[in-house]
Amino acid sequence: MKKLRILVVGQGGREHALGWQLSQSPLVKKIFFAPGNSGTENLGENINIKVDEIEKLADFAKKEKIDLIIVGPELPLVLGIVDFFQKKGLKIIGPTKKASLIEGSKIFAKKLMSKYNIPTAKYEIFTNFHLAEKYLKKTTYPLVIKADGLCQGKGTKVCDNQKEAEEFLKKLMVKKIFGSAGEKVVIEECLTGQEISFMVITDGKDFLSFLPSQDHKRLLDNNQGPNTGGMGAYAPVPFVNKNLIKRIEKEIVSPTISALAKEGCSYQGILYPGLILTKKGPKVLEFNCRFGDPETQPLMMLLQSDLLAIFLSLIEGKLKKKKLVFKKGAAVCVVLAAKGYPGNYEKGGIIYGLDKIKNKDIQVF
Ligand code: AMP
Ligand code: GLY
Repeated sequence: MKKLRILVVGQGGREHALGWQLSQSPLVKKIFFAPGNSGTENLGENINIKVDEIEKLADFAKKEKIDLIIVGPELPLVLGIVDFFQKKGLKIIGPTKKASLIEGSKIFAKKLMSKYNIPTAKYEIFTNFHLAEKYLKKTTYPLVIKADGLCQGKGTKVCDNQKEAEEFLKKLMVKKIFGSAGEKVVIEECLTGQEISFMVITDGKDFLSFLPSQDHKRLLDNNQGPNTGGMGAYAPVPFVNKNLIKRIEKEIVSPTISALAKEGCSYQGILYPGLILTKKGPKVLEFNCRFGDPETQPLMMLLQSDLLAIFLSLIEGKLKKKKLVFKKGAAVCVVLAAKGYPGNYEKGGIIYGLDKIKNKDIQVF
């Protein structure tokens, strides 16, 4: 079989972990990363193109005869990298611009869930600040305010009282700290329960589920400190048993995939609902149109199946014939961050001692 040239778009630990897993496939010839990082450099070749430079990426992929492109972060997906690449005849894994709205617009996701009875928190949509402010005066607390658009994970706030809610609403809709992403908001019921990440890969009809995982968003131990991009993650989740997985697949994943197809935006790629396990069952907090970071790191440590073969079957619409097989046991990822993170911090620091790690069960991404 012909060996393939792969391009991974992204620059995080997630993309390094994906590249590491792909590099073990006998089907791989060479992996490029755009822009990659100092870890991915050891797996292939880093290319100095940013994730949102879609035309440049396509030119590179054409020139270098790339056989398959895998996209890590949401930004290029929401900008329409998949539509653009497909028009150029390139093979790429990910949802189209319209299907990516499931992450790119909280309002799109909420309306879809209501229309197709997918369990989620009760909500109201506001496009007018004064109406939203009025609502905050007569409703009950706690509640959750969410900017409609992408805000690098900072557009959501759980508000314990009216004062906190009014302040956050002003930041979004009046001061516009996230620009147009915060001009429209969702105000929703605050749910309680354990949060889990549930990722599947789908060709628009069938899907395969990854192990459930859990990430840790707060900076410090014991859920203290500010929210971050994720300080660590582990899989599988001990309190998510086979029955619960089946329920999530039946009540959330399957109806979402068929809803998107019915809406004329059939979804291909990774679909990742962030779930909260309430007393009344699993409910969707948000959808992501990509792999989670850092959840992907432990998942790639556990994955036994050839990820590239899975991606290829997705492209051919033959996922149904495949299986995701995982190793026994568990994996945990701990993020080391520079002092000052998630605020301002010094960049370019050197990590020492990686050569001392000889145990194959430990990977540094
Ligand atoms: P999101 O931006 O939707 O991913 O939300 C970020 C975080 O806010 C989630 O991981 C939850 O911890 C919290 N959150 C979001 N929506 C709700 C909700 N309806 N109830 C309780 N917590 C929520
Ligand atoms: N770990 C959360 C996310 O990737 O959105």
